[in-house]
Amino acid sequence: MRAQLTRDGTRRVEVRLGGGKDYRIEIAAGALEGIGAVARGTLSPHAQRIVVVSNAKVFGLYGERVAASLRGAEFDVATWLMGDGERHKSWRTLERTLAFFGEKGLGRSDAVIALGGGVVGDLAGFAAAVYLRGIAYLQVPTTLLAQIDSSVGGKTGVNTRTGKNLIGAFHQPRGVVIDTATLRTLPPREMTAGWCEAIKQGAAGDRHLFERTHQALDVRATAGRASVDDDGSLADLIAAQCAFKAKIVANDEREEIGRTDHRSRRILNFGHTVAHALEALTGYRRFRHGEAVGYGMLAAGELSVGLGLLAPAELESLRRTVRLAGRLPRADDLALAEILRALPADKKSVGGHVQWVLLEKIGRARIISDSEIGARLLRSALRAALARDL
Ligand code: NAD
Ligand code: GLY
Repeated sequence: MRAQLTRDGTRRVEVRLGGGKDYRIEIAAGALEGIGAVARGTLSPHAQRIVVVSNAKVFGLYGERVAASLRGAEFDVATWLMGDGERHKSWRTLERTLAFFGEKGLGRSDAVIALGGGVVGDLAGFAAAVYLRGIAYLQVPTTLLAQIDSSVGGKTGVNTRTGKNLIGAFHQPRGVVIDTATLRTLPPREMTAGWCEAIKQGAAGDRHLFERTHQALDVRATAGRASVDDDGSLADLIAAQCAFKAKIVANDEREEIGRTDHRSRRILNFGHTVAHALEALTGYRRFRHGEAVGYGMLAAGELSVGLGLLAPAELESLRRTVRLAGRLPRADDLALAEILRALPADKKSVGGHVQWVLLEKIGRARIISDSEIGARLLRSALRAALARDL
């Protein structure tokens, strides 16, 4: 499932799931202009109406371009703008979004377009999954995190009082359109968050991808953001990241609960056990999701070394790469006892045990039950990972 480069410079990745669920990811600077053609090519021939779900910030930057392209392809376009931020990925927003679909008369052959970051993508995808028991949608991700991770694979959902992403559905998009030029307006902190998820994918499942990601970060750090972002090398890396994710998802679409092998989708939760605890503990205000994953990977790395699974030099390599992704908000002031209390609430627990995704080496994950991890090791791993000086 390697990315392919077409004559017009578009990178393409196929997601092969079978059962009529295959779809294509198209990656190019300026891809938004072609969204109408993609929608015509992938949606039902009876599709007439499209609701673009976005937020005011992203729609203000890119919405008109998307709407114009869709109108050019003779769709009747309506726009639903949700609030910006993790707290709006909620049941309440979902209800209001579904009501809007109903008011606009969206039918079974019509569709939704998610234009924005992972928050918009998860919410809009879930709304499409449950409206009329499931209608088509396209992902049009505009953050680095969403372009390399959340827009691919069909995980959709909302947050509730009991936790993040606990209510949701697997609902694959009909296509993913990635316009890398949209990253030019993305704030540096959001880039850091996306880079952390990119590091995660390489570290958990593909050493070569990890090294490519490290190299891009290294060049960016020395020669500046534009050196990587504007010459097509970021598009190549995004395509490689998408190809990796597509391969994992094709092999284990629904993250089967019994699977603990190093190719299961569960390895993509590397860094997420601690990340979810950090996010919850700070009311989702201090960390961007990817930043919390940055710390979570280091905690999992420390545990891996502590259990004798991972060589210390590999952890150092992970630490160097996370450092290159950008500065993370401080975490050394959070009480260890509270972080520990937040851990068992993680949704990845099976039979009451948290399943940790650890590393045997960069590029190969190992899934370990928390029953194999002593309390003392856990505390020291957290202390080392969350230290102020990465
Ligand atoms: P986000 O969606 O909150 O976007 C970050 C910020 O960037 C927002 O303020 C947004 O308005 C702004 N923004 C988006 N695109 C922009 C652009 N091009 N220019 C300027 N500003 C822009 O955050 P995110 O990091 O994209 O997504 C995080 C969410 O993704 C979390 O809810 C997480 O749970 C979810 N997620 C889902 C999956 C999955 O598989 N479904 C995987 C990873 C993360
Ligand atoms: N981001 C984790 C997954 O898609 O499974």
